[in-house]
Amino acid sequence: MKRGRILSGMRPTGKLHLGHYMGALENWVALQETYDNFHLIADYHALTTRLDTSRIAENTLEMLKDWLAAGIDPGRSPIFRQSRIKEHTELFLILSMLITAARLERNPTLKEQVRDLNLDNVGYGHLGYPVLQTADILLYKGELVPVGEDQAPHVEISRELARKFNRTYGEVFPEPKALLTQFARLPGLDGQMKMSKSLGNAILMSDEPDSIQAKLRKAVTDPLKVRKGDPGRPEVCLVFTHHTRFSKEQVPEIRAGCESGSLGCVECKRRCAQAIADQLEPFRQRRRHYDEHPDELADVLNSGEARAKDQAQATMAEVRQAMGLG
Ligand code: TRP
Repeated sequence: MKRGRILSGMRPTGKLHLGHYMGALENWVALQETYDNFHLIADYHALTTRLDTSRIAENTLEMLKDWLAAGIDPGRSPIFRQSRIKEHTELFLILSMLITAARLERNPTLKEQVRDLNLDNVGYGHLGYPVLQTADILLYKGELVPVGEDQAPHVEISRELARKFNRTYGEVFPEPKALLTQFARLPGLDGQMKMSKSLGNAILMSDEPDSIQAKLRKAVTDPLKVRKGDPGRPEVCLVFTHHTRFSKEQVPEIRAGCESGSLGCVECKRRCAQAIADQLEPFRQRRRHYDEHPDELADVLNSGEARAKDQAQATMAEVRQAMGLG
């Protein structure tokens, strides 16, 4: 039976943190079992919010190492850089003719980003962000796109564009669907809603146990639990949120200890850091392997890009034929 096709992508922002892992990567690794996956490193998309490219190569390799460390199998799933496959730009241009600027200006994800980054105006390429993302998906005939809630509006635009192309020129593309990651955001260690490297409140997938302990020691807890013995409220404590994801069967005991006061925050954080470090240990080992064998990283990209290119060229041949472009 033909397996479904998944296209997943991330912008190369360097080393990944636990929020990336829980929110996306963990799911990608699981999906490899059931689907054919293409994994895209969206380096052109990175330009929409950052023109400085001096760290893009390094950030790409750091992210790639985290993908491999987490268990993405490059033998099964091609991993490739968007900018290495010229067909992305070609399909992007064609698709941009099929959507209005007004439709793109209404995109809530874009509006949020403009607000968060305090931009007073949006660039032409940035406005086209979801059009480029659509080219990413349709070139590989992606049927499912694993994304968080915030990306769902982009995928909606991809669906509209696939329909519009098919109606105008003939049936070439499947209509992609978002595969929403069921995941409540991992909070930052400072109590902010979201873990983020730029906010400095993140645990990196590649952090060593000592540094995880040090970061956890500084984490914000229930402000009403001042010392051991005070009853705590696990539901308002971000350390407890981390326990629920990393400490598994010990969670009921930790909850009871916090609520009764018998478990102090210092010990609770130490155990939490330990649980996280234990879970990340196999990742650190795999990462070390690639640190020591950087030539293997180049091989992963080269072979992924060759496979991606075959598919992208085949799709563009169909597109040109459907459009009568010869
Ligand atoms: N917009 C995605 C993000 O910021 C990255 C991305 C680019 C992507 N192209 C894609 C995701 C195609 C899924 C499919 O996370």
